[in-house]
Amino acid sequence: MKIGVIGTGYVGIVTAAGLAEFGHRVVGTDKDADKIAKCARGVAPLYEPGLEELLHRNLESGRLTFTADVDGAIRESDVVFVCVGTPQDEGGRADMSQIEEVARAIAGNLTGYKLIVEKSTVPVRTSAWIKRVITLHSKSAQEFDIASNPEFLREGAAVGDFLRPDRIVIGVETDKARDLLCRIYERFAERLLITNIDTAELIKHASNSFLALKISYVNMIADICERTDADVEQVALGMGLDPRIGRDFLRAGIGYGGSCFPKDVKALVKIGEDLGVKMNLLRETERINQDRTPAFVEKVKRALWILKDKTIGVLGLAFKPETDDVREATSIRIIQELRREGAVLRLYDPKAMDNMRLVFPADERLVYCSDAYAVAERANAVLLVTEWEEFKALDFGRLRERMANPILIDGRNLFDPAEVRRRGFEYFSVGRK
Ligand code: UGA
Repeated sequence: MKIGVIGTGYVGIVTAAGLAEFGHRVVGTDKDADKIAKCARGVAPLYEPGLEELLHRNLESGRLTFTADVDGAIRESDVVFVCVGTPQDEGGRADMSQIEEVARAIAGNLTGYKLIVEKSTVPVRTSAWIKRVITLHSKSAQEFDIASNPEFLREGAAVGDFLRPDRIVIGVETDKARDLLCRIYERFAERLLITNIDTAELIKHASNSFLALKISYVNMIADICERTDADVEQVALGMGLDPRIGRDFLRAGIGYGGSCFPKDVKALVKIGEDLGVKMNLLRETERINQDRTPAFVEKVKRALWILKDKTIGVLGLAFKPETDDVREATSIRIIQELRREGAVLRLYDPKAMDNMRLVFPADERLVYCSDAYAVAERANAVLLVTEWEEFKALDFGRLRERMANPILIDGRNLFDPAEVRRRGFEYFSVGRK
């Protein structure tokens, strides 16, 4: 069996390398020839811990190859994983044009039976559209199947998530499709959940939206904590010790970002509303998340009063640690608001500065710094926006001596309030006294 993987974004590149690691013969393809050239040399097109080692190992073994010839890759594959982007369109729905383009390409290269597997996050009922596009455009009467196999990997932990998944969801409508996917994921037989296609498609949107809801929920509780003597970390712990609730995704802060949660919550709202379902719960989830930025900037104002011409340091730009991704990062909205107020910004992130320079090119009021201590230079306050591990080990003395005013505003509750205050800082965090 030969597997084709279309798309070399996060999901595609990890899927291609991961399936090769499982022992399958895999060809990865993308219409972006530059990305393919990089992948073929073993250079990951994005920063992800462990990915380049995985690529090298599987390129060397010969199980993994890459080609920019999308048509050729489809023709030589028995199973085609579709991993192209489904970005948000202007109305908040998923823009499905790349999926349609791939469906047409598959229709034009249907040389024998093929199983087409949706790996990208797609709205429920997408498989019916793919089937229709292939049937409309295919010149041959070749048999094919569609399946849904949503990916649950997290950026920054993607390789481990793919190689050691907690569940593998497979949505199928024929025995042949089920048997092929069971063979591909043979080593995880006890972790397979087999459903129909609509169910599998919906599991992905429902999961991401539920996690986003948990975050907005704890952020709402944090707001109550800030107005009382309660401590959100302890409230979250007390809630999370109940196994029905669980401790994960109850970290209060400045809200969720990234290429998945913001887009997927909006998409599920549209999916539901288009079907006549009231989606107020998720609309509120999104609203709470949007409100985190002005609330955080308000905290900065409460510490500094006037922001115009104040120097503010920002630690962390990526939407979360261990990634260089700044898509929908909370840092972007915070920087926009601080600039609107006339602040001078000094920014640092261990991995995401190149990507952030594309969003905010440097100028005399926005400076990219070489490390956290350079960020602190003459700063009236330093904001912690992304909780990178290296910030945990900051030398507070070194930081403080560079600052004009030792004020630390922690958007991720990374530091221990008593410890930071002991080091001479005025310290503000989220939902804690
Ligand atoms: C998310 C899901 O966790 C993955 O399971 C899913 O496969 C992926 O989306 C996707 O659809 O591709 P990811 O966006 O990489 O993964 O990152 P998360 O670790 O889920 O974090 C998302 C955002 O939530 C980050 O901005 C993070 O800072 C924030 N967050 C997370 C919180 O504010 N509080 C928490 O307790 C947890």
